[in-house]
Amino acid sequence: MEPHRRSWAEPYKIKVVEPITMTTPEHRRQAIRAAGFNSFLLRSDDVYIDLLTDSGTSAMSDYQWAGLMVGDEAYAGSKSFYHLVEAVQEVYGYPELIPTHQGRGAEHILSQLLISPGDYVPGNMYFTTTRFHQEFAGGVFVDVIIDEAHMPSVEHPFKGNIDLVKLQKLIDDVGADKIPYISVETNVNMAGGQPMSMANLKATYELCHAHGIPVMLDATRALENAYFIQQREGGYENKSVKEIVLEICSHSDGATVSSKKDNLVNIGGFLAVRDPELARRARAMLVQFEGLHTYGGMSGRDMEALARGIHEMVDTDDHVRARVGQVEYLGNALLKAGIPLVRPIGGHGIFLDAAAILPHLAQDQFPAQALTAALYVDSGVRGMERGIVSAGRDPKTGDHRYPKLELVRMAIPRRVYTQAHMDVTAESVVEVYEHRESVGGLKFTYEPEELRFFQARFEEI
Ligand code: F0G
Repeated sequence: MEPHRRSWAEPYKIKVVEPITMTTPEHRRQAIRAAGFNSFLLRSDDVYIDLLTDSGTSAMSDYQWAGLMVGDEAYAGSKSFYHLVEAVQEVYGYPELIPTHQGRGAEHILSQLLISPGDYVPGNMYFTTTRFHQEFAGGVFVDVIIDEAHMPSVEHPFKGNIDLVKLQKLIDDVGADKIPYISVETNVNMAGGQPMSMANLKATYELCHAHGIPVMLDATRALENAYFIQQREGGYENKSVKEIVLEICSHSDGATVSSKKDNLVNIGGFLAVRDPELARRARAMLVQFEGLHTYGGMSGRDMEALARGIHEMVDTDDHVRARVGQVEYLGNALLKAGIPLVRPIGGHGIFLDAAAILPHLAQDQFPAQALTAALYVDSGVRGMERGIVSAGRDPKTGDHRYPKLELVRMAIPRRVYTQAHMDVTAESVVEVYEHRESVGGLKFTYEPEELRFFQARFEEI
């Protein structure tokens, strides 16, 4: 048999199982009403297949679980911290490590250290917490992703790419001294888990460095990006994902990472940089907001499991191949049924095009929020709104920001669900799609000021 005819079947077997509850449609109708039609407010007991997020929901390996037992809980100078430093140096290549409780802890420190009020921070599409911290530090986020990223049905192999013309224009308009750094996200989450090419990252780095602008990665999903580069970019087909991750980071000055994704742990994150002086300033802030510089926000056992997870994600290419393969399996089942979704299929989940599925709802009737609720009621599958509710309000005008993408994300936890769970999920999406005219709009009953999607409540119009 030719190699490409082999499936991506999981490179592991299951040693422990966690039972999940089956619920009735009537129960789920009550539960979603009690949750204010917000999937973040559902109790996980009421969820059958939980695709809310791939963040902190991975299954750890037996080797990682064993690491919990040998984690060193010393307040200062923990052995586990040094294991983590070695892992980050080997896999990401940054010499300086600042451990944090999760990704946004690192974003907070980086933003506070580098951004002054009135600065501009370009990025390839926003991520909710990342932009929050940039704005909280007084910066203005400027989207410099290519236009294709905002077009769900357009096939482009590297929708995460930076538009260098947009970036150059920003530099010309505001001046390089008003741009403390560029925030470059690997495998752009809000675009649908879409990668950037190595060529584009390299060109971005060269342009920025010609103007003295540092390049800071959000390397949270660098592994999935590396896999797509291996599959799609000429010259990388024979490189391992480990080599490609290291090369990605070589075109940057530092990175924030939420370890709850690629790194296969349930909590943790870090800021990693090359400049020792920036690292010194970050450590000074770390002790104020997170914890001592040798644990940040993590326990010793967290750091031990994380160090092992970082090695495990790149030890062979089989892990990421199966991870992205499972996402593609679900996506292909939906495409076959004619469901509108973001294409190409992304790295960490399926993004349903709620605007195309529910054209009878205006964007301020929250189509993606309503579709997420309808899916949950149909089958107990929990997804997440990634549209106008997530985009929030413009801090200057107070109006909704109307994003071009109005999506429902079904993110796939790593090493957690089986192909049969993907089948049930696809069947539920098809069922809801067939009855899409019956899905009505929503209105706010409670709207938090910041990061409103987490705790907002709605009722049916
Ligand atoms: N950057 C990206 C690209 C992310 O996806 C996330 C989290 C963060 C930063 C923040 O990291 O949660 O550890 O503080 N994304 C989660 C999600 C919440 O569901 O996509 P964190």
